[in-house]
Amino acid sequence: MSASEIMHDPSLQIAPVPRISIQAFCEGADIAALIQEAMADRRMNKAHVKVHMGGSAAAAEAYRNAPTPNLIVIESTSDRATLISQLEELSEFCDAGTKVVVIGRVNDIVLYRALISRGVSDYLVAPFTVVDLIRAVSELYNTPGAGALGRVIAVTGAKGGAGASTVAHNLAWSIAVDHEVSTILVDMDLGFGTAGLDFNQDPPQGVAEAVFSPERLDQNFVDRLLSKCGANLSMLAAPATLERCYDIAETAFDPLMDILRATTPVAVLDVPNAWNAWTRRILVGADEVVVVASPELASLRNTKNILDQLRAARPNDFPARLVLNNVGVLKRPEIAAPDFGKSVETDATLSIPFDPKLFGTAANNGQMIAEVEPANKIAAGFTDLARSLLGRGETKKQKKTLLDPILSRLRKRA
Ligand SMILES: Nc1ncnc2c1ncn2[C@@H]1O[C@H](COP(=O)(O)OP(=O)(O)OP(=O)(O)O)[C@@H](O)[C@H]1O
Ligand SMILES: [Mg+2]
Repeated sequence: MSASEIMHDPSLQIAPVPRISIQAFCEGADIAALIQEAMADRRMNKAHVKVHMGGSAAAAEAYRNAPTPNLIVIESTSDRATLISQLEELSEFCDAGTKVVVIGRVNDIVLYRALISRGVSDYLVAPFTVVDLIRAVSELYNTPGAGALGRVIAVTGAKGGAGASTVAHNLAWSIAVDHEVSTILVDMDLGFGTAGLDFNQDPPQGVAEAVFSPERLDQNFVDRLLSKCGANLSMLAAPATLERCYDIAETAFDPLMDILRATTPVAVLDVPNAWNAWTRRILVGADEVVVVASPELASLRNTKNILDQLRAARPNDFPARLVLNNVGVLKRPEIAAPDFGKSVETDATLSIPFDPKLFGTAANNGQMIAEVEPANKIAAGFTDLARSLLGRGETKKQKKTLLDPILSRLRKRA
């Protein structure tokens, strides 16, 4: 697709890059020239850009004693281990809010994942065009696909172990990957959350810092706490350690919610099965609520109570959605979906069969269902649930951009 076609397709328009400082550390004259060219583009005219030579080694050296800019762009032809160790050195000197984009020459998925998991915002594989570069920078600062206000989707279970976290994680993944909407998954089960395990990540910081350091909380601080789980998906992981007790005040999550709504198209909240002041506030305050239940009596009673409470507290909102999970456990007497739906006055939006092999494999591998078995009906169920929660007619097709051939390969999680 030519640059002029991109200009004329509104869905492919590139938002201007905000008033940020960018420092680039190049190895090759071609990349340096390309960045110079990008600086002259109208969409970059608010940004302040400086180009240096010397790659990642020069970058690590440069910030030992100097403050870091908003964005550091590093071209590297070093081998994987050297680059990662240089980036790790650099990260020690990075100020809060600094983003890093790496430019490489090798289409290397292992490197890509290693970089993203270390907080690198993007990895671009040369050769690419000036427009590709501007788009990549623009997308770092302009979250696409959303109106002014981000949508908050809260997922909770009718009983412990109902599969609420599994649904929340697969839902967030589907919104981000199938529907290409930037999404943040927030694991609110501070003591026992499994988002880190389910996405095969062990980030040192996450949601606890956001809740327990309200004085430091701003958009940049939240950005630093996020761990990348994929192209459009980031996570605020739970500490899942028990050194402290998590007695959370009713309004403890309010500042974080305000920031997420202002900056993120979709936030999926994994809300633990509990009924206390803060969980109730989160569920009542969300744009959409999903209650995950097994088709048995205690879950039915709890689901009815939760849905009734939410209906009363949110008279002008969509009713909470019901997801029936673990349907069809061998020899277990079950409440049929229509009867369950009638009792709680809400038909299930999705019924997920009990499939211990598939869910167990996904959990053990730190993968989503669609990554383990992309063609499985359960994966399609999550895509449909995501679509219905996004209020979308159909799954957004892969956008055809100049970066597509590179990014689609890079962005697939191995
Ligand atoms: N449909 C399913 N078939 C088989 N196993 C499942 C299914 N859904 C979830 N599981 C498994 O059930 C276990 C509990 O799931 P999960 O942690 O999502 O539940 P939860 O409701 O979040 O629990 P908690 O109350 O501890 O937060 C996990 O091991 C998960 O892999
Ligand atoms: Mg859970």
